[in-house]
Amino acid sequence: MKALVALILLVQLPVHKAVPAAPPAPLGCDDPESEAAAEVAVSYINGHSHHGYKFALNRIENIRVLPQGLNNDIIFLELDLLETTCHILSPTPLANCTVRSFTQHAVEGDCDVKLQKLDGKLSVLASKCHSHADSREDVLQLCPDCPLLASWNDTEVLTTVTAALNDHNSKTADAYLRLLEIGRANIQYEPAHIVYVEFAVAATNCSAAEAGDNVEACQLLPDDQSNFGFCTATKVVRPSQDLRVDCQLYGHQVPTPDSQDTSAGLVPSVVQGFINHNLKLSHNNPVASESSSSEFPTSMLSAKSVAKRAVAAVAQHDKVPHPVGFVPPPPPCPGKIRHFKI
Ligand SMILES: *[C@@H]1O[C@H](CO)[C@@H](O)[C@H](O)[C@H]1NC(C)=O
Ligand SMILES: *[C@@H]1O[C@H](CO)[C@@H](O)[C@H](O)[C@H]1NC(C)=O
Ligand SMILES: *[C@@H]1O[C@H](CO)[C@@H](O)[C@H](O)[C@H]1NC(C)=O
Repeated sequence: MKALVALILLVQLPVHKAVPAAPPAPLGCDDPESEAAAEVAVSYINGHSHHGYKFALNRIENIRVLPQGLNNDIIFLELDLLETTCHILSPTPLANCTVRSFTQHAVEGDCDVKLQKLDGKLSVLASKCHSHADSREDVLQLCPDCPLLASWNDTEVLTTVTAALNDHNSKTADAYLRLLEIGRANIQYEPAHIVYVEFAVAATNCSAAEAGDNVEACQLLPDDQSNFGFCTATKVVRPSQDLRVDCQLYGHQVPTPDSQDTSAGLVPSVVQGFINHNLKLSHNNPVASESSSSEFPTSMLSAKSVAKRAVAAVAQHDKVPHPVGFVPPPPPCPGKIRHFKI
């Protein structure tokens, strides 16, 4: 062991001579400072998304800090996110939103975010994201009967959404609801044939009875009264036909100054051929990634710091006896996975 330490130190020595002013150790992905930056970034991403669901942090992939001067840093973050069950228009705070489970066919988001930390205050300068569903093979391998995501223009999906909305509107005494967008749709074939859909809705200025007379005249409520909501529906096709619908209106939401008006980007639509909302539509700023390739040129830096920490660990190991099961410190990046890996 002593010989190994000496060897590592020998290898390290010339490096240290060649670099007189060693830069401060880079931030680790699980450091509290990195987590604080990620929290600001995720809140910004959700606040500026116009479609689909809120995303939650799964892992900090990488972080890089470029000092600009006293108390002024530029921070580049690479984040892995996972879709939650809260629609982007839902007033539920992200902390209370459940991450969509693997068995419901999870959707992952990848984001590059550029932040500035000025006198301790973090702000987002740019964000660039895209999101994609887990592969069908991945889901089926662990769960052969799981309902996979289906395309929004799938005939069965469209008929289920239409039937669900009609069902709700035919039973309610409240406002007649119109479809804003399909959030997701899953279809299961075995052991039963079941179609699951989720969609965002908005209240119109009509009651259901008034809509029956002339649906065309029913308009979405103006911005200062807007009332959005969300419906989930389950249609059993086989063994026996059944339809369950649940719609919740959020009530009028006064937009917070920090979040853009999310409703503005939501136009009633069925986008052809997609199975998930892509964060790219709301976050596509190349400035957010440090280089055009979006690769962090930190391999040298972090490799160095890993080596440094390893030497420290070995040196430490020689000095004090460790309890059985001593685990060496984790590499600084990527950070821990909070939910599951896809
Ligand atoms: C969010 O969760 C907290 C803690 O569990 C709870 O106190 C709070 O009422 C919840 N808020 C909403 C809007 O669900
Ligand atoms: C809803 O608004 C439209 C447009 O302003 C109007 O023409 C229509 O009469 C309204 N319907 C009801 C039931 O108030
Ligand atoms: C769904 O949209 C895609 C892309 O536009 C198209 O190729 C496909 O035929 C459509 N499917 C149905 C069932 O309409």
